[in-house]
Amino acid sequence: MSRLIYILNGPNLNLLGKRQPHIYGHETLADVERDCRSLAKELKLDLEFHQSNREYELIDWIHEAREAAGGIVINPAAFTHTSVALLDALNTFERDVIEVHISQIHKRETFRHHSYVSHRADAVMAGFGTHGYQLALRHMARRLHEQPAPKV
Ligand code: DQA
Repeated sequence: MSRLIYILNGPNLNLLGKRQPHIYGHETLADVERDCRSLAKELKLDLEFHQSNREYELIDWIHEAREAAGGIVINPAAFTHTSVALLDALNTFERDVIEVHISQIHKRETFRHHSYVSHRADAVMAGFGTHGYQLALRHMARRLHEQPAPKV
């Protein structure tokens, strides 16, 4: 089983730390990436970490992950609530998918309560702040450990 995990981030998350800090906190996406990389080292995971404001780029990374990755952690940001295309892409991925939201989307506007991605996600984290990414990575490491080693 591949120990490569893709962490994908959707639109506006490049502005993390500056964007509505009362909701999303003061950490930047670079801080999140740094913390994920240091945890990944501890967990012996390899990481691809990406952010895009373009739906098709996220879809292309999911297709890339199909070939190589043992799991996907995705914060689809606003595409969570709009994108059947992202859901379709994730449905082509055969390993674990964990959906992460920094904020507790169910306590916010009603349009944030529905997630297309949740129709596919094996686990969902919401409201843990940026720490949610690390919780997701720890769970991913555990899942990889549980899954049988590939036959030789
Ligand atoms: C978000 C929640 C979404 O509703 C919002 O559009 C985002 C970020 C979160 O991490 O809390 O951009 O996914």
